[in-house]
Amino acid sequence: MLSIMKGPYLQNPTEHTMTVMWETSLPATSRVDVLLAERIHSGHQGNYKQPVDLFGTFANESPTRIHQITVEGLEPGTTYYYRIYTQHESYKIDSGFYMFKTAAGQGEPFSFTVTSETGGYSGFDSSGGRINRRIFNRMKQYRPDIALFVGDVVHDGKLAEDWDKYFFGPGRDYFVDTPIYSCLGNHEDNASWYYDLFAFPEPKNFYAFYYGDAHFICLDSTDLIRKEDYPCSSGVMSPGNAQYDFLERELSTSNRRWKIVYFHYPPYISGGYQVEDLRQLCPVFERYGVDLVINSHTIVYERSHPLTQGTVDYDNGIVYIVAGGAGAMPGWLLPKREWHTSQSLAVPHFLQVVVTLDRLEVRAIDDEGRLFDTLRIRKSAEGKRDYI
Ligand SMILES: [Fe+2]
Repeated sequence: MLSIMKGPYLQNPTEHTMTVMWETSLPATSRVDVLLAERIHSGHQGNYKQPVDLFGTFANESPTRIHQITVEGLEPGTTYYYRIYTQHESYKIDSGFYMFKTAAGQGEPFSFTVTSETGGYSGFDSSGGRINRRIFNRMKQYRPDIALFVGDVVHDGKLAEDWDKYFFGPGRDYFVDTPIYSCLGNHEDNASWYYDLFAFPEPKNFYAFYYGDAHFICLDSTDLIRKEDYPCSSGVMSPGNAQYDFLERELSTSNRRWKIVYFHYPPYISGGYQVEDLRQLCPVFERYGVDLVINSHTIVYERSHPLTQGTVDYDNGIVYIVAGGAGAMPGWLLPKREWHTSQSLAVPHFLQVVVTLDRLEVRAIDDEGRLFDTLRIRKSAEGKRDYI
C-alpha cells in the first residue's frame, strides 16, 4: 500500500523557485502541479484565495521514496497553490491543495519563526509529541514566511523513526505551507537522514541564503567542535578552515542590511553547556556587521546584551539568542546570571521575528502564546544600529 510518510514539505524558497519534498512508503513517481491563486471577495467572510489556472506541472518519472521537485519560473512574494501526485504501480495519491509563497524581494517585509530541541528533552513533556505539536501549531498561527530550526530536532538522527516521531509528524501541518531550514545539532549526529531529507544549498551542513532584506548564514558547530573534543575546538576556526572561509566570503560579499547567523552550540549562555571556543568566530561577526546570532543546545531561552569584543556594547554590539525552544528544562539555567545575560527564562517557547528594511523585531513567545521577551533593533543604511 502506498502512503505518504512525510510531508509534503517546502524547502529553499527563492524569489522564483520553490522545492517541494515528500516521502512515500514505496518507490513512486513524483509530480507537483502549481496553480495560480486568485484573490476573490466573499462578502462578510472577507478576502481569500482560491486556485485557478494551472501554472505548470513539474515531474520526475523515476520511482523514489524521498521526492524532491523544484518548481521554477515563479513571481517573487507571490502565493500559489500546489498539489502533489505520486504513483506506485496501480496505487496513486493526490494530496489535494496546499499553498506556498515565494521569497520576498528586497524592500519587502517578512517574518520567520525559530525553535529547536524538539527531540524530546523537555522537562514539561518527555515524550516530546505534545509540546512539539503545541509549539508547531502556535508558530503556524503567526503565518511566518519561513521556519528556522537550530538543531536537536530529533533525539537520535541515525534512527529513521525519530524524524517522524519528533519532527515531520508533529510538524506536518506547519511544514506543508511553511518552508523550513535547520542546522546540525549534536543529536542529529551528522546522520545521512539530515542530508537526504533536506534540500539545503550544498554542502547542507553549512549554507547561506537571502530572504527579503536579510542574509541568513547557517554554520555547522558540530564540525567546529567535534564530538571527541567537545566542548573545545581543535583550533580550526581560522582562515583556511572551510567554514571560516565560507563565513568570511558570505559576509564580505553580502548585499543585505540584516545579517543573521545560526548554529547549534551557544558561545554565550548563562546556563550549562556554553561552548566558549566558538567565540573565536565573534570577531568575524563584528567585522562584517552581523546583527543577530541564534543558537540552541542549552534547553532554555536566553538573550544577551549587545556584545562587542567580549563586553556589553549598546552602541553597536551583536545580540546572541539561545532559543532552546521545545526542550525547556528549568534546571539548565545556572543559579546566577552572567554579565552578558540580558533576559532568560526556561519555558517551552519559540521566536517570532519580523524583518523590514530598517527594523528587526524579535518576540519570544511561550507554548501558551504568552509574550515574555522582545528585542527591537533599528539599523541605518550605513549600518548603525539602535536598540529601541
Ligand atoms: Fe545539543
